[in-house]
Formats: sequence, structure tokens, C-alpha cells
Amino acid sequence: MVPAGVDPHHLPKHVACVMDGNGRWATRRGLSRTDGHAAGEEALFDTVDGALDLGLQWLTVYAFSTENWRRPVEEVRYLMGFNERILTDRRDELHERGVRITFAGRRDWRVPKRLARRMDEARELTAGNKRMTLTIAFNYGGRAEIVDAVRALVDEGVPSSKIDEKAIRRRLYLPDMPDPDLVVRTSGEFRISNFLLWELAYSELVFTEVLWPDFRREDLFEAVREFQRRERRFGGVDT
Ligand code: IPE
Ligand code: IPE
Ligand code: MG
Repeated sequence: MVPAGVDPHHLPKHVACVMDGNGRWATRRGLSRTDGHAAGEEALFDTVDGALDLGLQWLTVYAFSTENWRRPVEEVRYLMGFNERILTDRRDELHERGVRITFAGRRDWRVPKRLARRMDEARELTAGNKRMTLTIAFNYGGRAEIVDAVRALVDEGVPSSKIDEKAIRRRLYLPDMPDPDLVVRTSGEFRISNFLLWELAYSELVFTEVLWPDFRREDLFEAVREFQRRERRFGGVDT
């Protein structure tokens, strides 16, 4: 059932979320930053349910950026274990709901082996699901993604005359993923922070003051309503 005020005929195909504000949520409660990350789990799964309610085909969430390694080692270690546990504990329920899990990001030496294995297992388990694709951007940076695509072009010996937008797109982490129609960032920060730089060229951006651990499906619906009030022109003229 599509929620009130949402037009089922103009749904975004792909919504991407910058899950931000966990640290501030925790600090305001006198808790540790890692408690804020833990509280983000419920927000994520409620958002996934909301996306399924809406019938979205693609949902992408920013879980760890290539810059987040700059954080204190304890926090980074916590986040690695936290993501590993979520993938272990909750992949079955995502699988039962018909969610295909994919990952975008660099698989470099800093990603713990055990976590990398859980990522592969979750992807393989859910590879045949068709209802919705949940992409977890992990050790993801938009600039790194473009650098990796350029490296691939060079390694393949592609001549410059053959390099166009399609050639670059084909070498992004998930070439078949459509560009996000809507990007939602929580916690009142008005920036992109290296998320999906190539892909969001024409995305509608919605910013909300809600801190990620408080985000629920109704906030997703509200972002979609805002999206539906926007007029997308893609550089053309509206007729
Ligand atoms: C987002 O919340 C989660 C990650 C970046 C992993 P933050 O941890 O950035 O929370 P704030 O922005 O410090 O409040
Ligand atoms: C972006 O949030 C990355 C994730 C949500 C995973 P940050 O909290 O890292 O972004 P900045 O540092 O405020 O720009
Ligand atoms: Mg932040």
C-alpha cells in the first residue's frame, strides 16, 4: 500500500541515503558514538521496509566512506564488527523479503577478511532476488570509484578516442545500477561527502534535520513526497 500523499505513478526508481548523525544522536543522550551506530540499525531496517512498502526497486545506503578510516581506531573497529554482525544476523530476513544485497566500494587490505567474506556470502545468498536491490556503499568514495574506472580503462588499453561517458559508466562498481533519482541526507548537513559523485549528476537532493537513528519509513515517505513536488529538467526546457 502506497502511503497517503505519495503518487504511485511517479515513484523514484532509486533512492540513496547518507545515513548521518549517529554520533550526535548518541552524544546528545550522553552515550558513546558507537551507541549511535548501534541505534542506526533499527533506522536502516525500518527504511528498508518502507522502501519495500513503496515498491522501490533500488535503495542505496552509505555505510562507510573512504574517509571514515580517519576516525579513532576504536570507532573504526566497532563499525567493522557492527557491519559484519548485521550481515550475519539479518541477511536471512532480507533474503526472505526478496531483497538482493550488493556492495559498492573498494575491497582494499583495510577491510577485515571476515567482513569481506560476510559481504560475499550475503551477495551470493541474495543474488537471485528481484524485489529490490539494497546496495551498501562500504569503503566507498565517489572519487575512488572514478579513479578505479580510469585505472580499468588504462589497464584495458582503451584508446582515448573510445572513452566516453558510457565507457566510464561500464567501469563503475555497479554498472547496471541506475542513477539515484533521489538522494536523502540526514542530520542537517548540506553536503555530499564523496557519495556517488558520478551517479548523482541529476539526482534530486533532499536534506532533513532528523538524525539517522531517528529516521523511519515515514521520513522516507516525506522525502519521496518532496521529490514528487520537484520538477526535473535534465538541462532541457519544460514544455
Ligand atoms: C554516520 O554518523 C555514520 C558513519 C559515518 C559511519 P556519524 O558517525 O557521521 O555521526 P555524526 O555526523 O558524527 O553525528
Ligand atoms: C558521510 O558521513 C559518510 C557516511 C554516512 C557513511 P560523514 O559523517 O563521514 O561526512 P562528513 O565528515 O560530515 O562530511
Ligand atoms: Mg557524520
